[in-house]
Amino acid sequence: MGVKIVDTVLRDGHQSLFATRMTTDEVLSALEELDNAGYYALEVWGGATFDSCLRFLDEDPWERLRKIRAVCKNTKLQMLFRGQNILGYRHYADDVVDMFVKKSLENGIDIIRIFDALNDIRNLRCAVESTKKYGGHCQIALSYTTSPIHTVDYYVELAKEIEKMGADSLCIKDMAGVLLPNDAYELISKLKANTKLPIELHSHCTGGICEMTYMNAIAAGVDIIDTALSPLSGGTSQPSTESFQYALAGTEFDPGLNIELLKKAAEKMTKVKDKYIANGLLNPKALTVNPSILKYQVPGGMLSNLMNQLKGQGAMDKYEEVLNEVPRVRKDLGYPPLVTPLSQMVGTQAVMNVIAGERYKMCPKEIFDYVTGRYGKSPGIIDPAIKKKILNGKEVTTISHRPADDIAPEFEALKEKYKDLCKSDEDVLSCALFENIAVKFLEKRNNPQPEVEVVEVNLYV
Ligand code: CO
Repeated sequence: MGVKIVDTVLRDGHQSLFATRMTTDEVLSALEELDNAGYYALEVWGGATFDSCLRFLDEDPWERLRKIRAVCKNTKLQMLFRGQNILGYRHYADDVVDMFVKKSLENGIDIIRIFDALNDIRNLRCAVESTKKYGGHCQIALSYTTSPIHTVDYYVELAKEIEKMGADSLCIKDMAGVLLPNDAYELISKLKANTKLPIELHSHCTGGICEMTYMNAIAAGVDIIDTALSPLSGGTSQPSTESFQYALAGTEFDPGLNIELLKKAAEKMTKVKDKYIANGLLNPKALTVNPSILKYQVPGGMLSNLMNQLKGQGAMDKYEEVLNEVPRVRKDLGYPPLVTPLSQMVGTQAVMNVIAGERYKMCPKEIFDYVTGRYGKSPGIIDPAIKKKILNGKEVTTISHRPADDIAPEFEALKEKYKDLCKSDEDVLSCALFENIAVKFLEKRNNPQPEVEVVEVNLYV
């Protein structure tokens, strides 16, 4: 039994390298080869792909999934699911979470990778129960980060809880690519010793250490690794699939992929990549190793966001200062892992602290909600003085229960509200997650502008 491989080229690959802009036609262009190459699964769907379809590509994300499923007859399809945030940025009611899981599986997903930014397992429960109920493979991901709270023992205890919840497998989700090779060996050895769950590792090449980390993980017994087909590998993405096939071929870890088919798929994906280099969406910087992320512990995507925010305010000279502020904000807030939506929240707070010249003089509403428990339990203690400053005398109770317990069912009301617009429950779910952009998309889809046909006739007989 070799190491199993999940290819991320159709999800994280283009999300990490060119802002998730790959179109459905481009996704389909290499799919037959990928489906026959011998992967354990293909990661094809997630928050950013869904959002980007509606927002930028004028495509129905559900339709994309159905088209992928129609081609993929051999390989499992995997998606990334943000627990109670589903594919969005806030907490949703349980009925929306349940319906989203049901429809994802109905439309073709096999494996749902569920995570919570804070590793608050209460935020996973609903998605996990629904996945089990509708017969999907439920993978729970640990959001990996480093801090005085996030020790190996912390993750081992969390893994035990996750096994009890009924997960079918466990993923170490190292979204920032900060898991060091020796730490990977220790973490995976201890997880293997303490749970029976198959373990998958997901990391990024941003810091230049990912292949080393994966090799140590393999030595420690990891069952599955996430890699990306070579054209969309490296840099802020995952390591190259083909390279791992070559490195492990003939060993007890041989993934058993068909290298000829990978080559054909890679030729097609190279054409896709070339387009995004030509149109400027793939910045060569995203392909360059950036070891400083190992110091700042900031995911690659967050770095480019911070840069954009600072550019927008004409404050690029503050970049270094903001990078140094990020770990301080994290500490103040009890060391949240930097993954969506917390990465954006912490990043924005760091920018505000630096630009305002006074820490926590300004604060986004999401941070206010976070310090009052509305995203779940913070991993460590939120600094009381900082919390007091953020609350600024406002009488808001801090909640200690599961945030979604306060959210009334949403699905039926939305279905009624958009009954003229929505032709399916899938349409309603698109509205539930991204109301404004989904409404715009559906209006356009329902009333296509007829194409003007230009014909040549002889007017002057
Ligand atoms: Co990732």
